[in-house]
Amino acid sequence: MKTYNIGVIPGDGIGPEVIRESLKVLKAVSGQHGFQTELVDYPYSGAYYLKTKELVPERVIDEWRTLDAVLLGAIGHPDVEPGLVERSVILGLRFGLDLYINLRPVKLYAERLCPIKGKRPADIDFVVVRENTEDFYVQIGGHIHKGTPDEVATVTGLYTWRGCERAARYAFELAKDRAESRGGAGRQPRVTLVDKANAIRAHDIWTRAFAAVAAEYPGIQTDHAYVDACCMWMIKNPDWFDVIVTTNLFGDIITDLGAMLQGGMGIAASGNIHPGKTSMFEPIHGSAPKHAGKDTACPIGAILALAMLLDFLGERAAATHVEGAVTRLLESGAIPSVDAGSGLSTSQIGDMVVAEALAAEPRAIPS
Ligand code: IPM
Ligand code: MG
Repeated sequence: MKTYNIGVIPGDGIGPEVIRESLKVLKAVSGQHGFQTELVDYPYSGAYYLKTKELVPERVIDEWRTLDAVLLGAIGHPDVEPGLVERSVILGLRFGLDLYINLRPVKLYAERLCPIKGKRPADIDFVVVRENTEDFYVQIGGHIHKGTPDEVATVTGLYTWRGCERAARYAFELAKDRAESRGGAGRQPRVTLVDKANAIRAHDIWTRAFAAVAAEYPGIQTDHAYVDACCMWMIKNPDWFDVIVTTNLFGDIITDLGAMLQGGMGIAASGNIHPGKTSMFEPIHGSAPKHAGKDTACPIGAILALAMLLDFLGERAAATHVEGAVTRLLESGAIPSVDAGSGLSTSQIGDMVVAEALAAEPRAIPS
């Protein structure tokens, strides 16, 4: 039987609660689909840092490289300097493992969940390909005269041809795959480049890298939107988008907006991917300290992140199975909303997804 080694970083706040549910679902579907998992737990989080002063050591990043995948809950603690542990764990993974794609599907599972009136599931089904190892996240910059009136702070956004090119290529390949799986029905394959090339002249490298890659994909439409206009179109005509490719920071921002189109932060999932290498999957929400420990957070984002992880491992049937169970529960209203106010506890939602997944599969394992 195939065995996958999966690193698990539950993290802070609601992270451990949503990951617990995600692992319940993993256990159920691995039994059904005939594979095993070996889970390796990692304690890194803000809470762990407060206790031990330990961030992620280099040798652990080396160890992560030997796993099949990593599942992460959320990082961020109100008593720790903002960003310190996030940079160590999340950016440690993204940069340390060269996870150059941050894949963030924006998909409406049930009309009722969308805050924009009149938008149906057929209108909202696109994917954001966020470049994940460059831009303003590279930590080049600093301060002089800190804390004085003469203070100067600088930050450098960095783009490489290789970085833009590989992100664009991933986006076009994805548009091709998505069109194939629609079997010629539905929307035309289209990749939209989102940047701010009118104000940030360095974004011209994106314009050119995108055009160079696009030339290799004559069957795929191309489009362009400045990031401010993209936010407007995402609300007004979300059906226009198929695959968006964008810079790291813009991708961060527009995917929170995308999460709201889907019904809230509680449903949005992501994959930090280097094709063919160890990749990391996480819900896009944060640690939400005010909901922590109450068993009210929505675990759907973490469960859909697990589905993305399974898909990445090549367990496509298991991935579809998990997504199908979530879809039915959301469509039927059995899970009425994807926020902390759904009236269902975190563990109830996890149990419902497990039950739904088991019910839908004739080869269900006896409990
Ligand atoms: C995300 C988060 C991170 C980011 C933070 C926690 C560093 O907002 O994954 O979207 O900015 O990428
Ligand atoms: Mg974010």
